[in-house]
Formats: sequence, C-alpha cells, structure tokens
Amino acid sequence: MVSLWEETYSIAKRGELTGNLSTEVAVIGAGIAGILTAYYLTKRGIQTIVVEANRIGSGQTKGTTAKITSQHEDIYHKLIEQFGEEKAKQYAFANEHAIAEYKNLVSELQIDCDFEEKSSYLYTLEDTTLLQEEAISARKLGIDSEYITETELPFQVKGAVKFANQAQFHPLKFLSAVAENLTIYENTKVLEVEDNILRTNRGEITAKYIVFACHYPFINAPGFYFLRMHQDRSYFLACKNATTLNGMYRSLEKTGYSLRCYKDVLLFGGGSHRTGENSHGGQYSALRSALTQFYPEAKEFTHWSAQDCMTLDGVPYIGQFSSGKPNWYVATGFGKWGMTSSMVSAQLISSQIAGEEVWYAPVFSPERFTPKSSAKALLDEGMHAIKGLTRRIFQLPKATEEELPLGHGGIIEVEEEKYGVYKNEKGEIFIISPKCPHLGCQLEWNPDELSFDCPCHGSRFTYTGELIDNPAQTDVVDKKGD
Ligand SMILES: Cc1cc2nc3c(=O)[nH]c(=O)nc-3n(C[C@H](O)[C@H](O)[C@H](O)COP(=O)(O)OP(=O)(O)OC[C@H]3O[C@@H](n4cnc5c(N)ncnc54)[C@H](O)[C@@H]3O)c2cc1C
Ligand code: FES
Repeated sequence: MVSLWEETYSIAKRGELTGNLSTEVAVIGAGIAGILTAYYLTKRGIQTIVVEANRIGSGQTKGTTAKITSQHEDIYHKLIEQFGEEKAKQYAFANEHAIAEYKNLVSELQIDCDFEEKSSYLYTLEDTTLLQEEAISARKLGIDSEYITETELPFQVKGAVKFANQAQFHPLKFLSAVAENLTIYENTKVLEVEDNILRTNRGEITAKYIVFACHYPFINAPGFYFLRMHQDRSYFLACKNATTLNGMYRSLEKTGYSLRCYKDVLLFGGGSHRTGENSHGGQYSALRSALTQFYPEAKEFTHWSAQDCMTLDGVPYIGQFSSGKPNWYVATGFGKWGMTSSMVSAQLISSQIAGEEVWYAPVFSPERFTPKSSAKALLDEGMHAIKGLTRRIFQLPKATEEELPLGHGGIIEVEEEKYGVYKNEKGEIFIISPKCPHLGCQLEWNPDELSFDCPCHGSRFTYTGELIDNPAQTDVVDKKGD
C-alpha cells in the first residue's frame, strides 16, 4: 500500500549518525515539520542537525493529500467562539502567511514540485448554517472566503465555502529540494532525551535546543501530550480516467469525501475514524463503491492510509514543549492540516529559538488551556484510555484462534491470556501480545491495513509486532517465537 507520492518519487538516501556530536539545535524527525524547521533555522545561520529514525518523509508526510490551505474544516467560527477574535486572527494570519511562505520558497529555490495555486472548498450535503457562518467568520479574519451553492463535483452539494489563493503540490518532491543542503542523519532513532542530550541508537548528540518534530512526542512527561491528543486515520484511492477537478474539496461531514487532482490522477479519500477503532474494516471497499458511483470509468492504481494527531481544542501544539524544559520545542497535533501547520511551526520555532517574539504564537501555545473546548475532550480522552485498559480485564473476546478464517486477524483469549492473532491466506498463524508497549492499552485489529492499532494514542504495529507509528518507541514485547 504505497501512496501516490511514493509511487511517483523517491528521495535520495542519507547516511546515519556515526559517533557523538554537538550542535546548536537538534531536530527530531525529518517529516515536513522537521525539515521546514531545520531549513529556516539553518537560513538564520543557526547550526542545526536533523535525526530521523527511518527515512526523510517516511512518516505521515508520505501519506498526505498535500493541500496547502488555511481552510481547516469549519475552524474559524469555532475559534472566535472558543478563543476570542484576537486569537482567531492569530490562527488565520499564521496559516495564510504559511501559504505565502510556500509560494516564496518554491519560487526562491525554484523547486520543481508541481506547485499549483488552487481554491479550496468545504462542502456540505446537509444543513448549511455552519458553512454560512464560517464564510462570514473567515472573511472577518482577513481570509478571501465566499459562500457558494454550486461546485464542479459530480454530486449536488447543499452549500460550500470557497477559500481563494490556496495551493497544492507534490510533498516528497518539495521535501527533497528543501532538505538538499541540510545536515540529516537517517536511520538514527532517538531513544532517550535528557535535558540537552539525545541518546540515539547510533551515538549521543548534545544540543543547546531540541525540537520534537516527530509527529507524536514520545516523551510522556513532562508535557503529558498523551493526555491531550489521540490519532485519527483516513483512507485514499488514487485513480485515472476519473475527472480533472480545478479545486480541492473536503466534506464538512465526517462521512463525506476528500477530493483533489494531481495531474490526471484523482485522489479520492474518506473513511475517517479514531486509530484503533476499525475492527470491522471495509474502508477501502466503501470508498471504491462510492468512486464507481461518481466516476464509473475510474481505474484505481494505488491506495493507502495515514493518520494525524488531534488535539483537545482542534489547534496544534507549537512552541515550548513544557515550562520545565525551556530549551525544548514541539510541533504536533496538526489535525490533518500539517502542510500549513508545519510551515507555521517552522516560522514560529525558528523565530523563538533566535530570541524573537512572534505575535501569533499565543493561540498555538502548548501550555494553553481552553476550558470551553478542552474540558469535555480531556474527559473523553481519559475515558478512552480507561476503556483501553479495562477492556483487557473485563471484555471477553468472542473469537478463538481455531475459528479465525484465512486472511483474518483479531484478539482472542486462550486460557485467560489475550493474544493478537493473524492467520494469513496460507494458514500460517502469527501471534503477538496485544498490549501496547507505550502505556499498556489493548491493541485492536485493523483489517484494512492488517495491523494492530492502539485506540488510546494511535501507535500501530504490523501483525508480526513491529512498530509502524509512534508514540510507542519499541516493537510489541511478546511475539510468537520470542
Ligand atoms: C489522510 C491524511 C490526509 C492529509 N492531507 C493533508 C492535506 O491535504 N493538507 C494538510 O495540510 N495536511 C494534511 N494531512 C496532515 C499532514 O499530512 C500531517 O500533519 C503531516 O504530514 C505531519 O508531518 P510531521 O512532520 O509532523 O510528521 P511525520 O511526517 O510523521 O514526520 C515525523 C518523523 O519523525 C520520525 N521520528 C519519530 N520518532 C522518532 C525518533 N524517536 N527518532 C527519530 N525520528 C523519529 C518519523 O520516522 C517521521 O519521519 C493529512 C493527514 C492525513 C492522515
Ligand atoms: S499508544 Fe499509548 S497506550 Fe498505546
């Protein structure tokens, strides 16, 4: 399951860290957030290195839809209500400025990344009240927005909000060009961070400042990000013979679709759910039947899924990691809007490390607490963690290992012990402990990806127990044959 971007481009390999070194700034993670932050720090003359556990762009960035937009669902009327107009302005400005910065960078470095200016649309098939309100709120905050009732989509919408002057690109081509002159160590995983020392599997790094751009911070305390974020997954098909859309589209309803074109390829997505809550599967088949309904001639040539971190109040955590660690910075919680949010992170964190104040920083502060939106969400997060933990003890699994049909997986109980089991098409059985190595929640089977996913904070593992997505740092502890 390779994304369209991996199908069409590969980034040159970099070497790993060999031995110990010291630097002014160490950035953990070479996704879009880490690379952009390192770029702007280096541009300011601040010595910066990036350490990447795997390869550049190999995290969630390779699975993005790569719409560069400040249209983050219907966020603006909510921001005005929950944060007030001043902070809503900070958010709107930072994200519109991020789009302008992408344009500048692509032109300054002459990056060949299929960058195109486009309009972005948020549509509804249901009640239009929220979208009408959203168009007014966004305009009030300085965004070129408009409420419309007709689109080029193959189905009739009830209404839509259009944001003009947005953009789209090929994220891996872009990343490769921006990374070109940066110091990056691939296959170098940070195992521990203590004050200004990073311990990796390849050596130790001493850094005056540390930036956690690793998608989900893997340090549990301080910061306690695991209490304030979960992950949400969505699914995509890339197909030819469908259509050529001029705009980039996203549905207001969670059950709706995301559409954009890349050259003659349509990206058609949906099926969003909390990571670890897809044990029935069927996301790709539901997308395929919708696609056929809208575009009967469409020919799928690849499909993939990805996930992102969702914060309690819907605004990313960008800035100082925690008050007890003044030299640590974090960029996370992008809520599936990581293109502009990564650019905001890069601008904000590089300025803060250079000792400059940023007027739009307060809305993104990781130390904020917005009682109206956060209190209920915090309670929900706590309930999820509790649910995950207690399920291990109280909820009996229905399946047994023998009953599993070929090509199926699940959680089964044998002699009061729970196991994560997958039986492949040849009848081979793979067994792992279903206990998440992050904080011990019970993993759940995801039949669409043949993976075991954690409902608490979104770590994911292959059916043989290898780590796919953090915040867990290690593979599942007990596997068959261990
Ligand atoms: C389905 C989907 C569609 C999306 N579409 C859009 C869109 O159209 N527009 C938009 O703006 N956003 C979109 N997003 C969101 C966007 O893709 C993400 O927010 C963004 O890619 C996250 O980038 P990142 O750099 O934070 O994380 P990543 O790309 O995951 O990078 C983090 C890196 O850190 C590394 N790492 C982790 N732990 C360690 C460690 N211990 N040591 C060293 N390295 C480590 C990882 O290997 C990884 O490479 C979408 C998200 C999803 C799920
Ligand atoms: S990801 Fe935190 S317990 Fe699994």
